[in-house]
Amino acid sequence: MKWLNHVIVKIMPIFPRSFISLFSRRYIAGETLPEAIVTSQQLNGSGMWITMDVLGENITRLDEATDAKNACLQVLDAIHQNQILGNVSLKLTQLGLKIDQAACIDNVTEIVERARHYHNFVRIDMEDATCTDDTLAICLKMHQHYDRVGTVIQACLKRSEADVRMLTDQGINLRICKGIYDEPADIAYKKRQEVQDNYMHLIKLMLERNCYVGIATHDPVLIDHAYAAIKQRNLAPDRYEFQMLLGVAETRREQIVADGHHLRVYVPFGEQWYAYSIRRLKENPQMAGYILKNLFIRG
Ligand code: FDA
Repeated sequence: MKWLNHVIVKIMPIFPRSFISLFSRRYIAGETLPEAIVTSQQLNGSGMWITMDVLGENITRLDEATDAKNACLQVLDAIHQNQILGNVSLKLTQLGLKIDQAACIDNVTEIVERARHYHNFVRIDMEDATCTDDTLAICLKMHQHYDRVGTVIQACLKRSEADVRMLTDQGINLRICKGIYDEPADIAYKKRQEVQDNYMHLIKLMLERNCYVGIATHDPVLIDHAYAAIKQRNLAPDRYEFQMLLGVAETRREQIVADGHHLRVYVPFGEQWYAYSIRRLKENPQMAGYILKNLFIRG
């Protein structure tokens, strides 16, 4: 059935938006901030923290970057006003990285200043490999002014061990994920096992270096390995947290909380839900098959 999934992924862009929207409800908190606040309150009520993401990336005009910055500021205000246990995740290309780096830095600085005002935390998401150096440089720059700023390291990249060593030397809080972008083989591990091995290597490196780590995965193998590493070191739950995307592995995430670990759910919302949903679909071909079946049944 692998070939069928491949075909489905190829033809996905022609799926009707209304159909994608049916599917995306599970992965997206809504188009507006009040909807995302309701989802966050529900998750907090179930003992989970959140990080909110205003959907959108790779903008082409600076006024779009200003809009995105304002949206992030509103998220921080709303988190504070509604006493949400959560923070904000942001994407640098959405804040102008590829158009005007100085403007991007100004935007991030303003968001970080607002977070400092509320004593909140800012996570800078990691985008494709053309952004890695700039993202790390901006994260380091922000961290010099306010230490509650962290970023993301992708286990699929061969450079990541060196990056983790460099960032943990500065005590920077990192989220470790597999990496969602399809990177070339000269810079990235391509085999599932290699990525899993590097993932656990990086998690253990973070723990050995006494750095707070966000263990962002739904992979049961990696979750089990992380449990073992935590148990072996007898780590207190304030040294790490698990992280998952909204709508994914919900049974496992409840178990993680029941087992006494902290868990944060990534809560995306906003008008740019379409591109995000397509990416989630591509990651989950089984769901794509289900959609195709429904498409034919619906006729
Ligand atoms: P894997 O892909 O093997 O998934 C394990 C299992 O989880 C699957 O078999 C399936 O059952 C389930 N699953 C996974 N994805 C699913 C989906 N979309 N729908 C339904 N089920 C699904 N990447 C990046 O490059 N930069 C970043 O900043 C971030 N940020 C980030 C934050 C958080 C909180 C998470 C959880 C993930 C990211 N990622 C990311 C994405 C990450 O790199 C990776 O692509 C996904 O987490 C999928 O990898 P897993 O480790 O979950 O394993």
